[in-house]
Order: sequence, then C-alpha cells, then structure tokens
Amino acid sequence: METAEIARRFLGFFEKNGHTVVPSASLIAEDPTLLLVPAGMVPFKPYFLGERTPPHSTVASVQKCIRTIDIEEVGKTSRHATFFQMLGNFSFGDYFKERAIPLAWELITTPVDQGGFGIDPEKLWVTVYLDDDEAEAIWRDKVGVRPERIQRLGKEENYWDMGVPGPCGPCSEIFYDRGPAYGAEGGPAADEDRYVEIWNLVFMQYERGEGSGKDYPILGELPKRNIDTGMGLERLAAVMQGVDNIYETDIIGRVLHRAADLTGTRYGENEEQDVMLRVVADHVRSAVMLVGDGVKPGNEKAGYVLRRILRRSIRNLRLLSGGDTAFLHELTEVSIDAMKDIYPELLDKAETIHGVIDTEEKNFADTLRAGTTLFGRVAERTRAAGGTVFSGADAFQLHDTYGFPIDLTLEMAAEQGLSVDEKAFRELMQRQKDTAKADAKAKKLGNADISLYGRLLEGAGATDFLGYTDAESESQIKGMVVDGASVPVARAGDKVEIILDRTPFYAESGGQLADTGTLTVDGRGVVDVEDVQKPLPGLFVHRGTVRSGEVVLDDTAHATIDTGRRHAIERSHSATHLLHAALRNSLGPSAGQAGSENRPGHLRFDFTADHALGDDRLTEVEEEVNTVLAGDIPVQSQERGLDEALRMGALAMFGEKYGDRVRVVEMSDYSIELCGGTHVPSTARLGIVKLLGESSIGSGVRRVEAAVGVDAFRRLSRESALVGRLSEQLKAPREELPERIDSMLSRLRAAEKEIEKLRASQVLQAAGPLAEGARRHGDTLVVASPAPEGASGDDLRKLVMDVRGRLGEDGPVVVAMTAVPKDRPVVVIAVNKAAQKAGIKAGELVGVAARALGGGGGGRPDIAQGGGSDPGKVDEALRAVEERVARG
Ligand code: ALA
Repeated sequence: METAEIARRFLGFFEKNGHTVVPSASLIAEDPTLLLVPAGMVPFKPYFLGERTPPHSTVASVQKCIRTIDIEEVGKTSRHATFFQMLGNFSFGDYFKERAIPLAWELITTPVDQGGFGIDPEKLWVTVYLDDDEAEAIWRDKVGVRPERIQRLGKEENYWDMGVPGPCGPCSEIFYDRGPAYGAEGGPAADEDRYVEIWNLVFMQYERGEGSGKDYPILGELPKRNIDTGMGLERLAAVMQGVDNIYETDIIGRVLHRAADLTGTRYGENEEQDVMLRVVADHVRSAVMLVGDGVKPGNEKAGYVLRRILRRSIRNLRLLSGGDTAFLHELTEVSIDAMKDIYPELLDKAETIHGVIDTEEKNFADTLRAGTTLFGRVAERTRAAGGTVFSGADAFQLHDTYGFPIDLTLEMAAEQGLSVDEKAFRELMQRQKDTAKADAKAKKLGNADISLYGRLLEGAGATDFLGYTDAESESQIKGMVVDGASVPVARAGDKVEIILDRTPFYAESGGQLADTGTLTVDGRGVVDVEDVQKPLPGLFVHRGTVRSGEVVLDDTAHATIDTGRRHAIERSHSATHLLHAALRNSLGPSAGQAGSENRPGHLRFDFTADHALGDDRLTEVEEEVNTVLAGDIPVQSQERGLDEALRMGALAMFGEKYGDRVRVVEMSDYSIELCGGTHVPSTARLGIVKLLGESSIGSGVRRVEAAVGVDAFRRLSRESALVGRLSEQLKAPREELPERIDSMLSRLRAAEKEIEKLRASQVLQAAGPLAEGARRHGDTLVVASPAPEGASGDDLRKLVMDVRGRLGEDGPVVVAMTAVPKDRPVVVIAVNKAAQKAGIKAGELVGVAARALGGGGGGRPDIAQGGGSDPGKVDEALRAVEERVARG
C-alpha cells in the first residue's frame, strides 16, 4: 500500500468514527518551548492543559514532524528519520483508554479489502506501563490479545512527555514482529530491532514540571483525561510495503535510488555507502519540508537545523561520488515530486525551495573549496617540516573560518597519511564556547537591558535630533552607562554609552549607518563616538570610548560628527533612492524594497523579484541612474502628513510603522520616498554610481551592490588598468580581447583533444603485445595485466575489447585489465563467446577483482566493470582473477 493511501485510510477511519480531520500544522512550532514540531500532539498542547477550549473534542491528523536528536542514527537503523509524519487521533476529555485501544486495534487488523491495514494479529505485541492494570485488562479482555503478548515496561519506554514541561502520562505501545531474521525472540522487552514500535497510545492525564530526562516532578492532574496517539507513517509504510527499513519505502526510496544513480553507486552493495544513501534520502526530504514551511538556513535555531541537514547531505553525496557534486537540485525535485500527493502546496513553493537549497549548496561548495586550499597548504607545510600531525589550531581555523566539519578534516588528513591533533582541536572548541557564553552574559548585562534604557528615556526624555541641518551642537550629558549599569562618571579607557539632550549624530536606521565623531567636554575629557543606536524610539545612545580625561553626568559636551564620513554615507543613501526608482521603472512596481545598507562609498539594496536581472537589465538600470543624477536634481526633504505623503505616491517600506507626520524625500518627481535618513543637497554630488553585481539572497529576494562617488571611480580605474594589462599580455587591442580569448580557448581545447587522441592511440598500441603475452590455463587464454600508465576508464574499455578481438574465438578468452584514473582503481573484464559457453561470466570475475580492490562492480556476462579504493591492490586483483579462471 502506498504511503499516501495509508494516510488517507487512517484519516478516513477516524472520520468515520466521529473525529474531525484537521490539517498538519507548520513544522515551525508556535510553542515557545520548542523549535520545531516533534510530535503530532504539539498543536493541541493548550487543549490538553485546559488553557484553551478545543473546537472539537475528538480530532485526527497527519502531522509533519522533525526530530534531530537521533540524527547520528539516521541510515544506520531501520527506523530513524529527521523528518517523518505522525498519524494521530486525539481526544480532549472525550473518550479514554476503553475506546482508544480497541479503535487502534480495529484499524490495523481489519483486512485491507475492508478498509483497514490488514496486519496479521499474530505479528503484533503490546506494552503497557508498569502499574497500568486497566490498559492491560482492555487489551486482554476487550480486544482479546493473548496475555503472553502483553509486556509491562518502565518509565523510559512507557511514559510519554514532550521533553519539556507540559502534559504527560503513561502510554501503551503496539509493536510489529519482523521475524527471527531480525533478532532474538522475547517481545519488545527483548529486542527493539526485531519488534518495531508502530503505534504509541498516550493516556494524557498529568502535567509535568522542569527536569531532565525522565526525572521531573508531576505538578498535578490535567483538568480532563485525554488521548494522544502517534503512529509513524513511514514505519507503518515499511511494514506494509514489506521492505527492510523506512528509507526503502515508496516515497523516501525514490530519492535514495536517484542519489545512487547520480553518484554512480549502487544501493545494496556496500553497507557504508548504503548508510550514506539513506542519510541523503532522509535529509533531502527534511530540507524540502523545512524550507517549504519557511525555514531559511542560518547559524541558529531552526535555521541551523536546516543548515546542518543540508551540509550533511552534501558531504555524504561528495563521499559517495568521490568528488565535487551539485546533485541537490535534482534530488530536491524528486523529493517534491514524491511528496506532492500528500502536500500539493509543495508544487507552488517549488521555486522557492529550489532557490534556498541551491544557494546553500553553492555556498557550502565555496566553503569547501576555500577550506580545501587552506587544508592543502597546511598539509604541505606539515610534511615539508617532516611532521605527520595536522595541528589542532589549523583544524580549528578550518572549522571556525571555513565551517569545515572536523570529520572532514580528519578524513582528508587520513587520505594524505596525516593524523590530526584532535585533543588540541577540542580544547580550542571548548575555549571558544566558554568565551561565547561569557559574551552572551556580558551582553545581557550591558547592551540588551531594555529596562535600563527605559529608565534612561524616562529620566532624560526623547533626544532632539539636529543632524538634518547641523554637524555640531552643545549638548548636555543626560545619562551614561558603563558595563551595563548607570554611572555618574566615565574615565579614560572606559567603553561608555552616552545619552544627550540633543545631538547631531544620526543613529543607524533605515539602512543608513550611524555617524561617528567626538564629544568634547572642555577642560575635562574627550569621548570617541564609534556607533549610535536607538534601542528605544526617541532614545539616541552614543557608544564609544573615553579617549582622555573623564566625563561627568550633566557636563556640557561639544558634539561633532565626522562630516567626511557623513557626506559619503549620504551619497550612498541618495544613490539608493535613485537605484530604487530605476529598478521600479525597469521591473515594475513589484520590485519592492526589502532592506538596504548605506555605508561610505558603498550601498547594498535588497528587493523582491523572482528571477535574476540579467546583465542587460543591470546595465540599463545603471545607465538610467547615472543619467538622472547628472541632471543635478535638487533633493528636498519635508515633513508632511502621512495621508498627504501617500497621496503624492511616496514609497513606503512594507511592514514599517509610520507616525502621522512623516519625512518625505523628493528628487523632483523621479523619486519620492518616506525616509528619515539624510541626503545630499542635489544629485550631481553623487559623481558616479557603479553597480557591482546582483545576486540572490534567499527566496524571491535579490541584492544589488554598488560603489558610489570616488569609490566607484577607483573601481573603474582599477578595472581599466587590468584590461590594459591583459591587452598588453595578449598583444591585442582592448575591444578585441573577448575574441582573442575565445580563439585561444578553442585552440587550447583542440590541442587537448589532439593530445588525448595521441595518448589513446599509444595506449591502444599495447593491444598487440598484450594479446601475444596471453597465458594458457587449460583451454582458456588469459590476459591479466594493468593498462599502460595514464589510461583513462574509456581507454581501458577500448583496450580490453581490442585485445579480446585479437585473441579470436578459437577457444575461451578472458581479458582482465586495470587502470588507475584519478587515483581510484578501475577493472574491466571481457570474455569471448566461447568463454561464455564454457560458463565463464565477466560479471562474476569483476566481483572477484573488485573485492580485492575494496569496492564493487558488475555488468553483463560478456563485459563488466568494477572499481575500488585501494590502488595498491591492482596486482593482487588481477592475480585473483587469473587464479579463479585457472581453477575453472
Ligand atoms: N505523542 C506521542 C508520541 O509522539 C504519541 O509518541
């Protein structure tokens, strides 16, 4: 039975029995104590706790779940998955054990043609909690399960909770016996691999408190007695489809087999590879579902879960294929296709899902590439110094800077005959963790204490911002914070946060970076202002260091901003408005602003668009910006009523909150935006704007970066010099460079082809002498020899066929040859018709050789190919083949 049909039947059965079917909730948990949804009951927690009244007292669902706690077990056991679907029926104070147990039994044992799952009751066992006589009696007397098939287990197995405070209770589980081939007799108490749990019925009746593991206090009874059940859809599918494990079921299996095709491996030949294929199949599906629910790869929380899953997939694919890979796109497609029957919305989201996963794959590939270069340098240095140990500090740098997992470093080092100082590595990791913890603590005390800022704002009032017109002011110090506490004095060297009554400093907002500058108190001290933030609306916090002397509360300070920097930032900001307008002119009003950053000489503008702009579009936009700015349009800022501003067509940021009075920045009618930032007086001040490129930064959001003013000029000038140099080197005028390079490349390719041809013919010349050197074993002529040095896999096949052809059909002929392209041994074996008649099979002989090489292979009876990992075993492999033929 297909997975989708199992889900349909489950819901249909409970609907028929009076339950309301509800759709799966998002994987992103609404519950603040959880990151992602790990069980079907999560969306219903408030109903169990009596915090909310359920709209229906009995429901059934198929809930998407993510569990990564056992991520290391994925692929190794038959049943662990990071993403799975939980079939569940729930009663909120309605029925209890007396109905939940018989319902479950009925569904799984009713024959398939009568709408059930048709599982043979003889294969089923159940467990109940230690003292749950009631549940045992129901199983035995009402359902008719033989007493010896009912086992009692302890809290670890038969008491369920969410892992965090919330509802909990004893449970009863149904197990399926996979048979003696999978382990010892004796029921679930004896062997978890043979007896797989398929359904957990939880009798939710208590509330638990804080604790670890199963060690927590019971706070009391829930207002009502409830039922929460969970049956893993994938496990049930494995049982019903008669396959060994969940990875081979109809849905996950499709990804698994495609991964094998793409990486040139075969599932079922080698356990280590099989585990990797299962990991890939599981993880790709999890990633698809996570991205489908809106998770983006990141370094914390759900984003990290996704990133980890994706990186593990890429890493396993890389190990499987033995090289760089970019297979995720295709695997994602297969996974979406396999899941679309149950989740049709995946089709609408496919483009977004691909976008996110492709980007992460590419980023990780870049990481690997950069890290591999560093790795190579360190390895070389280590060997040159006569060492054999890759230092812990280098392994740590690879991890910290390049995101290299330690197991990758370990493996690459082993490939080069080096070991890694893992102990030192772990110590550095620990030290980093400790520092991060200390930082987080400091942050809590200092920067993040909003209530402290609240008190300062109350005491000092909102800061008066003078920076639209003034670059300096006389301001009074109204508050100071050092190390997270209010202080009356700050002394030389102190990192200080200062509140003024009025300020010319712009606080970072709307993408415009903060001003820097100084606060000088005559005769007392100077503070360098490095950043300005508004932790609360209206409160400007000047962050900096006391350079000399000291400053005291209520002092009058002379505040001065760095005007050079401010003007450079203003140029970037005004350029951003022009760019925004030009993009909308080119792409239409859907190109909405999604974020920006204006720093001196450089801008970044993010906007919504569902595909790349393309070079022509980009050039067009760039030209428009530069043409408009050269028109020297005045830039005018004015406060207006919000309604009036919107009537003027001013662009507002989606999702931004505006007051009744807003600032409107106008560049004639070319660009009108609501904006609190500061700008140049007229557009010609921008000089030039040079777009540096466009890229995707996530689903449907693109990013354009640009250099502005003198920075743009410098960039152009550098590039011009570079082209000049190329023109000199290639001895061609600038405009002819692309043609010249094209023709050089095609000549290079032609020459490479020629070399390749020559090399191949050289290899083939060996056919004659090899055929002459054939050895006779009984009737059979055998050639077992390595191919000449440098032979590719293709050469090898040609050569083997050629030698076989030369030896004719007078008697049986076996030709076995090896080559080592790209450091991996390959063996090809061909036998003639006479040999096949004599019962000699090429496929079988390749098996013999490949085993010696530490790998696998196969093929047709007349010609077969295999490979392995140990090039040192080539002679042994050939000898083994020859001996096998000699033995007959
Ligand atoms: N909530 C129970 C589980 O997840 C059914 O196993």
